[in-house]
Amino acid sequence: MTLGGKRILLIISGGIAAYKSLDLIRRLRDRGAAVRPVMTSGAQEFVTSLAVGALAADHVFTDLFSRQDEQDVGHIRLARDCDLVLIAPATADLLAKMANGLADDLASTVLLATDRPVVAAPAMNPRMWAHPATRRNIEFLRRDGIRFVGPMAGEMAESREAGLGRMAEPLDIVAAVETLLDEGPKPLLGRKAIVTSGPTHEPIDPVRYIANRSSGRQGHAIAAALAALGADVTLVSGPVTIADPVGVRTLHVERADEMRDAVLSALPADIAVMVAAVADWRVASAADQKIKKHPGESIPTLALTENPDILRTVGHHTLRPKLVVGFAAETEHVESNARAKLERKGADLIVANDVSSATGIMGGTRNTVKIIGHDGIEQWPEMDKNEVATRLASLIADRLRQE
Ligand code: C5P
Repeated sequence: MTLGGKRILLIISGGIAAYKSLDLIRRLRDRGAAVRPVMTSGAQEFVTSLAVGALAADHVFTDLFSRQDEQDVGHIRLARDCDLVLIAPATADLLAKMANGLADDLASTVLLATDRPVVAAPAMNPRMWAHPATRRNIEFLRRDGIRFVGPMAGEMAESREAGLGRMAEPLDIVAAVETLLDEGPKPLLGRKAIVTSGPTHEPIDPVRYIANRSSGRQGHAIAAALAALGADVTLVSGPVTIADPVGVRTLHVERADEMRDAVLSALPADIAVMVAAVADWRVASAADQKIKKHPGESIPTLALTENPDILRTVGHHTLRPKLVVGFAAETEHVESNARAKLERKGADLIVANDVSSATGIMGGTRNTVKIIGHDGIEQWPEMDKNEVATRLASLIADRLRQE
């Protein structure tokens, strides 16, 4: 019951992603939260207030000028009698209203009147998300302290278009809410952390690239877990389809050299956790134009060259963080390879996992790791990647405390 006793005011605005809000209500309530729903008139075109009210087990507020609701609760009380305001889905229109302080319906009025933390899960067509007007609104809202979870990349529900604009998955939204309402100890307050996550894409030509199966789940979870302990976290992420963690500064990159530049620009830091599955090699000279297939001609050969080793660069840097943690994805000799890596990369800890195909760790949700340090090895049982992240974050906090 991570959200036991917490009161969430859930604003549902009018997008097709509103169907996911029904699942979101269940997930929030499963964790002990009380959910009080507000629906815009647009939202009621997509899901019924009957379904929302039944799942939330509360009255659904829809009308600014409802005499009964105003007498019973009132829009100002609605805005304040909660621990957090969550907007899911947050449409381009509602975000635009918020950015400009408009209050012409119940949802926008509540948002202008609230003094509680606000989390928004945007959902819209990729072109609307990319539009300069939306970019501007998001920038304003970020400066006003609004937190965002998502949107994610992927196919849109209403069209075959793909791109950034899908609402974050209900469980990612729940994780964001948990992070923000977490009142646990903050041993990493005042500490700066850099985390890398996901794969890198190394171009072959404008349409092809070399990649790997990394999902970014483990790295993103570690960034979130460090932030939950109070650290100021910069996450440098390769191309992934999962949402940026809440409460973390996320820089998006594609290639290994971009990832290195982003990591170095985030120094100095106290903690570096390099989780990304950086491609070891890139194509020596990526083609400017798509490489064409010509019948009868020989098959092209790709000449590769070595990528910068980001962990090693950080581990030997003049601004080396106090604690440098690397990952080792191995398919054999997991332990001895990890020990060698500790030395070569200048790391304090190596988190080693066996990614031989039978285990399905890469891209999966569970992980079995060994923590290898200069003073010994700890074997952890198989657990969820979020749990690995939480335990690793507290191990990092313990190490820094001992200094
Ligand atoms: O050498 P190997 O790729 O097995 O090392 C894995 C560790 O090194 C991981 O922590 C990974 O994030 C990091 N790494 C890196 N830059 C590279 C290759 C690996 O930061 N080019």
